[in-house]
Amino acid sequence: MGRPKSKVMMVPQGSFFQRFPQTPAAKVLLSILAAVIAFLVRWLLNPALGSYVPYITFFPAIAFSAWYCGVVPALLTTVLALLAAQYWFVSPVHSLRLAGPEQLAALLVFLLVSGIIIAISELHRRRERDLRVARGELELQVEQRTVELNAANQSLRDLTSRLLQLQDDERRRIARELHDSVGQMLVALNMNLSALGGDIERLAKTANTVKDSTSLVESLTSEIRTISHLLHPPLLDEAGLASALRWYVDGFAERSKIKVDLDIAADFGRFSRELETAIFRVVQECLTNIHRHSDSPSAKIRLTCSANDIRVEVKDRGIGIAPAKKMAMETTGIPGVGVRGMHERLRQLGGNLDINSDGNGTCVVARLPISSSTSTAAA
Ligand SMILES: Nc1ncnc2c1ncn2[C@@H]1O[C@H](COP(=O)(O)OP(=O)(O)OP(=O)(O)O)[C@@H](O)[C@H]1O
Ligand SMILES: [Mg+2]
Repeated sequence: MGRPKSKVMMVPQGSFFQRFPQTPAAKVLLSILAAVIAFLVRWLLNPALGSYVPYITFFPAIAFSAWYCGVVPALLTTVLALLAAQYWFVSPVHSLRLAGPEQLAALLVFLLVSGIIIAISELHRRRERDLRVARGELELQVEQRTVELNAANQSLRDLTSRLLQLQDDERRRIARELHDSVGQMLVALNMNLSALGGDIERLAKTANTVKDSTSLVESLTSEIRTISHLLHPPLLDEAGLASALRWYVDGFAERSKIKVDLDIAADFGRFSRELETAIFRVVQECLTNIHRHSDSPSAKIRLTCSANDIRVEVKDRGIGIAPAKKMAMETTGIPGVGVRGMHERLRQLGGNLDINSDGNGTCVVARLPISSSTSTAAA
């Protein structure tokens, strides 16, 4: 990391003097101006002070020059102050001559005090400059860490989206495999058993066992079919979201004994595969959550489609999400991946998810924009 070029500003940030130019010439001019103002003040006080404390008003001018303008302009102010005081306020006036050892001692004290003021100011300026440089370096490091963090976040998002896509593909593949291999074999076995059942009908006892086996195989076939369809409902690709949802909701209501009301227009159009899959998975996850967490006796699903977007609302009348859990979900993402997955799916498609929950139930609302690439002609 390169050391940042720090512009040495000795005045505090936002100070009144920052509005003045910071060039060396401007600083020299300011130091002369300080000396002139100090001279005028001392001149106004002259009727009262006479030749007493001739340098007194010049100390603030030197302190100002040393603090704001730097060593060289402060030395210039000191020299001007010395000459002005000597010429106008130390007797004999209008002369630079020293009248005695007291005047020499006063002059030396003036020079000593001025030197101390300049030295202290310079030390202060240097410390401030070092602090400023250190702060610049720290800010640069923070910036760099922020960039790295953003990059890490981005790659995490990409990874999540890729994982979700892979999960969908894998479910589709397993569903097809189950249907094509195990499903077909079970059909063949069923046919064999049926034939065998006909042949040995006379042996009633054996026939009964075979009948039992046949019904077992039938249940197994239907179970495999259900699992395969739940993993990826073929209706979703073939007949569209409305039919797939109706099929899924009926099955869910029967298995869970939760009364589900599905409100979707009969002419709900067809959309891209990603969009329909995302909506189906959101409804699936919401109903699973209602069954697992809500204790609700019923659920209501409503899908509406406007010119620009699709709105999916899944509501229950259960116990709601406890505030502590809600807080944990918002901050750490714990406990489950269901809600996080829904957020991620919708974000990938430019949509968003809102969850409102209280003691009277939970309402999940998903919104998805419809772009020309995601909507297709009605099936
Ligand atoms: N309808 C609901 N009613 C009550 N609590 C809910 C509801 N939906 C979600 N929650 C709460 O929100 C938490 C997070 O839900 P999320 O779906 O992310 O995780 P999960 O269901 O626990 O696990 P999974 O990763 O299998 O989905 C749940 O643990 C549950 O406490
Ligand atoms: Mg869940």
